[in-house]
Amino acid sequence: MQIQSGQVAVITGGASGIGLGLAEAFGARGLAVAIADVDPATLEGSVQALRSAGVTTVGVLTDVRDPTQVEALRDAALAELGRIDIICNNAGVVPSPMRPLWEFDLDEWYWVLDVNLRGVIHGLRSFVPHLVAQGHGHVVNTSSLAGLATVPGIAPYTASKRAVVGLSETLHAELQQHAPGVGVTVVCPARVATRLGESSEFTRPGGQPSAPSPTTEEAPPERGVITPAENAAAVIEAIESDRLHVAPGDGAHRLAARRMDLVRESLGL
Ligand SMILES: NC(=O)c1ccc[n+]([C@@H]2O[C@H](COP(=O)([O-])OP(=O)(O)OC[C@H]3O[C@@H](n4cnc5c(N)ncnc54)[C@H](O)[C@@H]3O)[C@@H](O)[C@H]2O)c1
Repeated sequence: MQIQSGQVAVITGGASGIGLGLAEAFGARGLAVAIADVDPATLEGSVQALRSAGVTTVGVLTDVRDPTQVEALRDAALAELGRIDIICNNAGVVPSPMRPLWEFDLDEWYWVLDVNLRGVIHGLRSFVPHLVAQGHGHVVNTSSLAGLATVPGIAPYTASKRAVVGLSETLHAELQQHAPGVGVTVVCPARVATRLGESSEFTRPGGQPSAPSPTTEEAPPERGVITPAENAAAVIEAIESDRLHVAPGDGAHRLAARRMDLVRESLGL
């Protein structure tokens, strides 16, 4: 899909990090954005910042774990911005500390799967029928390098992100048959400079009382860590070239290839 001024993008987890980077990049291309987030203070600050940069922006307080709130997000975007061209199912959390799979308690499993997997399912159920009915649009699902490669220590996260890759590939195959004008991209970044660890401690049930400050950090603090803006540029390129998988960041391709080699070896191919 060609990205054009006047289109509308909806972004969950849009108040900070990768989601805010996408909102800024879409805004710079003349799109209006609806950003949705569960963190009200950060959401409000990011709405103001985007508007100050000249981007037509709507902020919708949304917990992606609740399907009715995700439906309300779609309705609010349509009511206030008049159309929807791109849906980014991006909200996510990461468990901590890292530990072996069998040491995560069930509350931790269910929280991560609720946000990272059910949240994406809610987004797909609420937005895809609209895109199919209009015959064009693009779905962007934020997975992770963990969706393509093996990352020990964060099993609930890896399980959720692998599932998002599976959902995206299935959706892509089905849309090719039923609505070929609607594209799908699953984003599998390596490391992006965001507040993911801190925000997860804030948004988790019973989490810390005060939110960390939002960021789309300018300079990567560590080697191999990309910025949300660099991630967004890769996503926009993938949307415009209708690419299903994109893995921005250092080492992502090598690690994904290593896992695929392992599968090939195991299967004797
Ligand atoms: N930062 C990385 O290195 C990295 C790498 C690969 C994938 N990702 C993925 O990118 C996505 C965005 O994360 P980020 O790194 O930008 O972190 P971030 O903390 O900056 O952004 C995540 C946003 O999601 C929001 N959120 C959390 N729970 C929510 C809920 N239930 N409903 C609605 N919003 C909710 C948070 O408030 C936050 O604003 C996540 O899905 C994450 O798993 C991040």
